[in-house]
Amino acid sequence: MQTGKINVKTENIFPIIKKFLYSDHEIFLRELISNAVDATQKLKALSSIGTFKGELGDLTIHVSIDKKARTLTVKDRGIGMNAEELEKYINQIAFSSAEEFVKKFKTKSEAERHALIGQFGLGFYSSFMVADKVEILTKTYKKGGSTKAIKWECDGSPEYSMTEIDKKDRGTEVIVYLDKESGEFLDEYRILNLLNKYSKFLPVPIQFGTEKVREEVKGEKDKDGKNKTVEVEKPRIINNTDPLWKKKPADCSEKDYKDFYRELYPTSFEEPLFQIHLNVDYPFNLTGILYFPKAKLNVEVRKDKIQLYSNQVFITDSVEGIVPDFLTLLHGVIDSPDIPLNVSRSFLQSDARVKKISSYIMRKVADKLEELFKKDRKSFENKWDDIKVFIEYGMISEEKFYERAEKFSLLKNIDNKYFTFKEYKNHIKEQQTNKDKKLVYLYTNNKEEQHSFIESARERGYDVLLMDGILDSHFINTLEQKFKDTIFIRVDADTIDKLILKEDEAPSKLDDKQKDQLKTIIERNIDKKKFTIVFDNLSESDQPFIITRPEFMRRMKDMSALGGVSLGMDNLPDSLNLVVNANNPIMTKVLEYKTDKKQDQLIKQAYDLALLSQNLLKGQPLTDFIKRSIDIIK
Ligand SMILES: Nc1ncnc2c1ncn2[C@@H]1O[C@H](COP(=O)(O)OP(=O)(O)OP(=O)(O)O)[C@@H](O)[C@H]1O
Ligand SMILES: [Mg+2]
Repeated sequence: MQTGKINVKTENIFPIIKKFLYSDHEIFLRELISNAVDATQKLKALSSIGTFKGELGDLTIHVSIDKKARTLTVKDRGIGMNAEELEKYINQIAFSSAEEFVKKFKTKSEAERHALIGQFGLGFYSSFMVADKVEILTKTYKKGGSTKAIKWECDGSPEYSMTEIDKKDRGTEVIVYLDKESGEFLDEYRILNLLNKYSKFLPVPIQFGTEKVREEVKGEKDKDGKNKTVEVEKPRIINNTDPLWKKKPADCSEKDYKDFYRELYPTSFEEPLFQIHLNVDYPFNLTGILYFPKAKLNVEVRKDKIQLYSNQVFITDSVEGIVPDFLTLLHGVIDSPDIPLNVSRSFLQSDARVKKISSYIMRKVADKLEELFKKDRKSFENKWDDIKVFIEYGMISEEKFYERAEKFSLLKNIDNKYFTFKEYKNHIKEQQTNKDKKLVYLYTNNKEEQHSFIESARERGYDVLLMDGILDSHFINTLEQKFKDTIFIRVDADTIDKLILKEDEAPSKLDDKQKDQLKTIIERNIDKKKFTIVFDNLSESDQPFIITRPEFMRRMKDMSALGGVSLGMDNLPDSLNLVVNANNPIMTKVLEYKTDKKQDQLIKQAYDLALLSQNLLKGQPLTDFIKRSIDIIK
């Protein structure tokens, strides 16, 4: 037997591993299993080049628990290690990287630590997070020389021992003696969950216990004439070793993609709309499938997240910083050994490889969308309402995506017709250019509430866009910056002729003195805190009073409410204009009345009608209005 100190120079890191890495103890299992997978893959590679000439045999990795002995074991039939390799890989290399990790870890703040652990496995030594003692029983695939099987043992002090043992089978068995606090890992369901989380798509079969399945008995029928089945106990294999994303896109059918979606998100009822199969090996290695979910994409709730794998080992499902933000609205998997995972998130964001990968994914997504648009416009339009948030988010936040998406991004008008940017511009150019040669895009965010304004716009032959998406108020700003000589105005921002000013103002029937008189009368009849009075010279047939919401103030409020810019404006009351149509005959009539009472009755009635058309008349004023109206018709 050989004993020794793993590293004499340093303090004992085991207590630190145990104490600090508290929150993510479970990753030790991922680490042990990925080592077993690595060892198996290495043997397969050696076999394929002829270095290993023996039988590969069954390469299944076995995970087992023994409640009595309080052990968890991971056993593989991979390359194994001889004494020399154990010394080199476990005692020296792995130890010093674990040591380095601990050093780094100790200097980090609480928040940074969390990111570090989630992203970075300690490798083999992470097993000491949960163990009093760990044993490695291993036999190399090599023949002759010093190839005796060895047992390595360490009880969480810097001392280890190595003994020759009698082990026939090639490969490695790691036995973790769980400590008092880690009894949870003796629970079958806990382990099953963990295996499903981390090992679902590993390339080597992983067996954990057995399961009962019903199997058909060939040639036998039950009394209903159906094939007879019996319950049999079979090894429970956790993983699909050949996940769809590793296949060539040409070999996958639509059904394969749908089935795989189920496999990824077994608890989701949604169906994906379509998917993008990523597959490159130059200049970096990246495979994956990204799904566009069918349910309206919601920026807030992201339950089924993109999962990130490195060579089929699950790493994380928080991919922020690795892919552009808007892409995190998608579902699916990304697998790349080229994404460095052993670093903190802030580092990731500035990593050149990550940037390249991220812009590649973005390009692929844009290409796919463009292809769908070109291939079948109708079906693209049918999907539009579902994918719109995603595309708008991308266009707002990523310049590069905007450049690609402007070719297929659509605008929808109130008649549910879809236009590309270019098409829409041509559609409204004639009618909606104002006297300053600016093109005016009219929009509504609520067809019902802004109905009367939409109708006035239609009467003038104008088109109105429907911009009722959650990101539309931001998106409008982006479009205004991109389009030349263009303004967006919501239909209720002003009276129709002011929205698209075609010529200088029409003459007024009232002079300034009369307007002042009128203003005094109006002011004593309206809620002055709520409205700003504005005179306008509309046509005689236009309404006497019109309530509008000036575009600029309203937009600031909208954006503030969305959280884009914090101007502290979300609490402000609506900014409303009461537009007085100086040319409506009622105004002249009011000035002709001799008594205040008569003037007030007429103004109140006209004002209430304006409120009513905007659904703003409520409570006492509404009751008063009804009474007054009845008096008038009596
Ligand atoms: N099951 C095993 N079979 C054969 N060799 C193993 C096994 N487990 C560990 N080793 C050896 O021990 C070394 C250290 O393992 P460890 O998990 O600490 O680091 P790693 O796997 O090299 O890197 P990382 O886990 O950080 O990706 C491995 O590189 C490998 O040489
Ligand atoms: Mg490892």
